[in-house]
Amino acid sequence: MKITLRIQRFDPETDLEPHFEEYPVDAEGTDRILDALMDVKQNLDGSLAVRRSCAHGVCGSDAMRINGKEALACKTLVRDVADADGAVVTLEPLRHLPLQRDLMVEQEAFFERYRAAKPYLINAEPVAERERIQSQEERKAFDEPTSCILCASCYSACPIFDETPTYLGPAAIVQAARFNFDSRDRGFGARLPELDRPDGVWACLNHFECTRVCPRGIKVTRNINLTKQKIQKKV
Ligand code: SF4
Ligand code: FES
Repeated sequence: MKITLRIQRFDPETDLEPHFEEYPVDAEGTDRILDALMDVKQNLDGSLAVRRSCAHGVCGSDAMRINGKEALACKTLVRDVADADGAVVTLEPLRHLPLQRDLMVEQEAFFERYRAAKPYLINAEPVAERERIQSQEERKAFDEPTSCILCASCYSACPIFDETPTYLGPAAIVQAARFNFDSRDRGFGARLPELDRPDGVWACLNHFECTRVCPRGIKVTRNINLTKQKIQKKV
């Protein structure tokens, strides 16, 4: 079918404001939006800036807003967002991060928060056996957050950033949860200063937008609420 990609463009060297440009593309319903974007880049305008790497929903680099909703371009089929010949699909960069160029945003603020969450195992206790033994139940407790691919879709969709730009953000809290709920970890106290503050977990007001857009199906809001409970129980 013939669709039109309406893409937000911005060149920091020549543009004061972003604007939209339209590109006609021939696509199958089963093509991915990333395929259509690469068609534009290879055949219509090589200057189009878009970040992508794995093309299989693993690296998280091609998150963007597709018809207003955060999604991975490589996991979104044309037929999911364009129902008929002549459909227009609008592509915009993620929100809440500085615009870099076209569909690319600066990621530093996102990864600063990621690092602040201390997303690694902290445990200075000596290892009794050759490894720290964990039951299947204990392993299950942090299974969900292990699938985060740091795509920043939740960061873009979260309305809290509009009022509280210093918010730690859903992805960093999920990354902290990966270790806070790991029975082998002893780092909860070290992560508390970032989590237990007004612009830490307490800024979340349960809008559930993060959970709605997460391409990995992580119950992001639930992980934030479990972290709040853990702080209240001081365990
Ligand atoms: Fe992306 Fe989901 Fe991780 Fe947020 S929690 S960064 S939406 S994978
Ligand atoms: Fe890696 Fe889409 S390109 S997740």
